[in-house]
Amino acid sequence: MEKPLVSIVMGSVSDWDTMRHCAETLEKFSIPYERNIASAHRTPEKAVEIASTAKDRGVKVIIAAAGGAAHLAGVLAAHTRLPILGVPMKGWATDGMDSLLSTVQMPRGIPVMTLAIGKAGAVNAAISALQMLALSSPEYDKILDDFRKKQTQDVLDVKFPDEQ
Ligand code: RP5
Repeated sequence: MEKPLVSIVMGSVSDWDTMRHCAETLEKFSIPYERNIASAHRTPEKAVEIASTAKDRGVKVIIAAAGGAAHLAGVLAAHTRLPILGVPMKGWATDGMDSLLSTVQMPRGIPVMTLAIGKAGAVNAAISALQMLALSSPEYDKILDDFRKKQTQDVLDVKFPDEQ
């Protein structure tokens, strides 16, 4: 099995319904990834273990998804020098605003690059990981270039349903 370049960490299996869109996007880009469930609150030792071993295992980027009091991305960021992409989960009392603010409002010195709430953030986290990998890989740079060109062309070619 190929060594993972990206590590997806979710606070709960209930986040998978959103984060599968991240995983599917990584697969589309041929980026090997691992996925784990680890909670900053319920399994803090596991979260620390994943973050603190990731670099030595060859991981280049960590994508962290959590909802509510979403401290997971911040805890992972505290235990690694790898870039952390945070994806706030939708739902909860304030429909994801709680997740967004608790992911994005990191103290100076320990950043979490925070994406949009929910599916758009999950997909964009995978695209952001591709952009980071593309900086040092001509293969991933080509995949990124092809993706962006196709996306643009798809929008230019779009037809209304009654024009098909
Ligand atoms: C967070 O609590 C998880 O990331 C999830 O978004 C949320 C709810 O978890 P469950 O109660 O569904 O397991 O830690």
